[in-house]
Amino acid sequence: MNSTNTTNLICQHFGICGGCQYQDVEYSVQLENKYKLLVEQFKDFDVDEIKPVIPSPKIWYYRNKMEFIIGKDKTGKIVAGLRQKNKFYKIVDLKECRISFEQTGDILDNVKKWVSENHIETYDLLKHSGKVRYLTVKQAKSTTETMLILVVTGTKYQIEHNEYQLFNNFVTYYKNIPEVSSVYIAINNKISDNAVPDDVLLFYGKNSILDTINDVKYEILPTIFLQTNPKCCDLLYKTVLDEIVEGNILDLYCGSGGITLQVAKHKPLGKIIGIDSSKDNIAAAQNNLLLNNLSENIEFVCDNVEVFITKLWKSKFMSNLSNIIVDPPRPGLSKKVKGAISDLAVNKIIYISCNPNTLYEDLKTFVKFYRIKKIIPIDMFPHTQHIELVCVLEHK
Ligand SMILES: C[S@@+](CC[C@H](N)C(=O)[O-])C[C@H]1O[C@@H](n2cnc3c(N)ncnc32)[C@H](O)[C@@H]1O
Repeated sequence: MNSTNTTNLICQHFGICGGCQYQDVEYSVQLENKYKLLVEQFKDFDVDEIKPVIPSPKIWYYRNKMEFIIGKDKTGKIVAGLRQKNKFYKIVDLKECRISFEQTGDILDNVKKWVSENHIETYDLLKHSGKVRYLTVKQAKSTTETMLILVVTGTKYQIEHNEYQLFNNFVTYYKNIPEVSSVYIAINNKISDNAVPDDVLLFYGKNSILDTINDVKYEILPTIFLQTNPKCCDLLYKTVLDEIVEGNILDLYCGSGGITLQVAKHKPLGKIIGIDSSKDNIAAAQNNLLLNNLSENIEFVCDNVEVFITKLWKSKFMSNLSNIIVDPPRPGLSKKVKGAISDLAVNKIIYISCNPNTLYEDLKTFVKFYRIKKIIPIDMFPHTQHIELVCVLEHK
């Protein structure tokens, strides 16, 4: 991208940290550049309209979730932060992070202090040994209520017995940050480098925090999916709502009910079924139904989309199915799902994608039967190369 203005270079870690790449580019120019890239990328398709990129209402401190790595630098000093740009084995010791939380510096100082003062081994990725791996932080942006999830190795028994005092003591290091309303210890013994836990144990405070997006309440829990920029997510959900037509609706890859609940509350034009393969997501979605007093014409199913979609054929729901919403993970849709969706021949497919490359590949299947009415880009990830797309397809 072109660098046109360096006066707004704000974060002290910019340039070294791998967290964001375009803080030195004026925001309006970031949007223009993302738009130009999209027009170029989708030029092979006959798209009726590519809308201008919808900007994020908040461009600093917009994220509600971060996974900070805890480790050592080459002198043995405890550090906590994000991977260095192009050097995955180096951790940038963050004093601040302008895309996540205003409290990031304090939150990370406390975990480093606890690790140092208690002589705890940080996890070594190459040797696969050590205790502390990540500090995942989740925050409800409407209230700033914050959840800490300390990701460690070990067993549930160890943590609840031999190491109980140690982790209880971890909680006391956060008494100076009033926003922290729950602390979890999460177990991850996997060799792969990610913060996704096998098990979680509540050590302090509430088991969940609440956020509200476009008048719908969502429960935030350690292991559930929620879009990471809630202010922008509000615009994403309103964009999807505008596209729903009369008839039943399938919400494939529904997470913890993000879109499903919005449709049931604001555009109940038919019955909606949300499907996700994560038990935790579906349990949270069911709970969100109660929280929002919604029960009419909405259902959640825990299943693999690949499996679920083949069971639909003979159902009554099918005869009035008009809309399919799909919001798959970054790798996009499997051949089987693309085939099944094409066979269902609904009026509208609303494809939400955080990866233009896989959307491009998946559209090659759908354009045989569907017209690409519009692509609506939404800047969910300011200062990074990422973009969220809503692609509206209508049956030919
Ligand atoms: C991008 S998220 C969906 C977000 C959701 N639409 C929202 O707005 O909150 C993708 C979801 O796909 C789910 N998932 C991944 N593979 C799946 C599969 N094979 N079948 C069903 N769900 C799957 C994940 O659990 C995750 O919740």
